[in-house]
Amino acid sequence: MNRNPKKFSVVGAGALGTILGGLIKHHRPDLDVVLVTRGEHCRQIRQTGQVVLHGPWGQCSPEVTATTDVKEIADSDLVLFTVKSQHTAETARQIAPVLGDATLVSLQNGVNQRELRPSVRADRLLVGMTATNMAITSPGEVTLQRNGLSMIGSPDNVCPSAIVQAARDLLAISGLPFETSDQILGIQYNKLLLNTMGYASVLSDSDFITDGILFGPWRRHVALPLLNEGLTVLEAAGIHLGRTSGMSDVLRFGRLLRALNTPGVDGPARWVVKQLVRPKKLVYSVYQDLVRGKPTEIDYINGEIVRLAGECGVSAPYNGLVVQMIHDLEKRPSDQFPTHEQVIARFRELSD
Ligand SMILES: NC(=O)c1ccc[n+]([C@@H]2O[C@H](COP(=O)([O-])OP(=O)(O)OC[C@H]3O[C@@H](n4cnc5c(N)ncnc54)[C@H](OP(=O)(O)O)[C@@H]3O)[C@@H](O)[C@H]2O)c1
Repeated sequence: MNRNPKKFSVVGAGALGTILGGLIKHHRPDLDVVLVTRGEHCRQIRQTGQVVLHGPWGQCSPEVTATTDVKEIADSDLVLFTVKSQHTAETARQIAPVLGDATLVSLQNGVNQRELRPSVRADRLLVGMTATNMAITSPGEVTLQRNGLSMIGSPDNVCPSAIVQAARDLLAISGLPFETSDQILGIQYNKLLLNTMGYASVLSDSDFITDGILFGPWRRHVALPLLNEGLTVLEAAGIHLGRTSGMSDVLRFGRLLRALNTPGVDGPARWVVKQLVRPKKLVYSVYQDLVRGKPTEIDYINGEIVRLAGECGVSAPYNGLVVQMIHDLEKRPSDQFPTHEQVIARFRELSD
């Protein structure tokens, strides 16, 4: 990748892509930043010529180019790929003829290199994970709800390290923390296992922290069985988890879950967190899709564990249940969720 990049494009600029593309333009106004997006979000950015970004920096409104035409990414140094997982293969095929020498970085949830490889040169393909959380609050406007580490790497370890480093440096212009890893597959699965539990909290529209992991019955009957099942499946598949820092690391997180099972611990912990810490509710993209009546990425998260289990000849009933229940919700009116108790009861039926 050019040491002095001139053009940065985002393919699928929704919440994640708009924040990163916008922040990079904010810090490097000389860089040509193109956001490929669609719908009302695209129309609004084109009309105003800018995106409005909220976060720890306050508010900024960098001027960017928005387009629905993938051909406008031609001559990019780096293409950030942030469509939802179910749009990966089709969108990658569309952009393949105009990728040229560009490095493509997927920060999608899910392990999508299988679908990207046919369209992207192996020595220019980078994938990763991000522990950030953001949402489109209105067309053209995005709020960063949680800052966190993002990591990228070459899934086949064939991308020259200078290119990986240059991609990291460009993405870090956003001001958000980026690191590189040569164990990126294990790091993607680390994040995926965390999401298998987070997405289960969406089933009852519950807060993952206060009504999820800090609530004994949910933790014991939903979170821990999902986590243990995911770990068993990855072991059967011969996939080694890569480690990340803090509570973004699923093994450290699992130890916390087990520690909370110690009698007398979780009640006071729940009170302290609810009354004193009052964390903001994490709004998962699966939830946003459900309330907007859109298909979700569930087949690429809990469904990925089910798929791997099938390949290895083991079973994954807990993740299978999440996939089935989310698909049921996709067909219902957007404000209808089962209760917390109903979800826990469905999981208990599996262990009885
Ligand atoms: N948001 C977060 O906090 C977050 C955090 C970590 C990881 N992620 C992951 O990052 C990925 C993107 O998430 P997101 O929340 O940013 O999703 P999003 O808001 O739905 O953004 C994706 C955008 O791409 C558009 N799109 C899809 N195909 C397109 C095409 N061919 N041409 C132009 N536009 C196209 C979509 O339009 P339509 O809506 O019309 O389909 C949508 O606007 C997902 O894998 C997600 O799991 C998100």
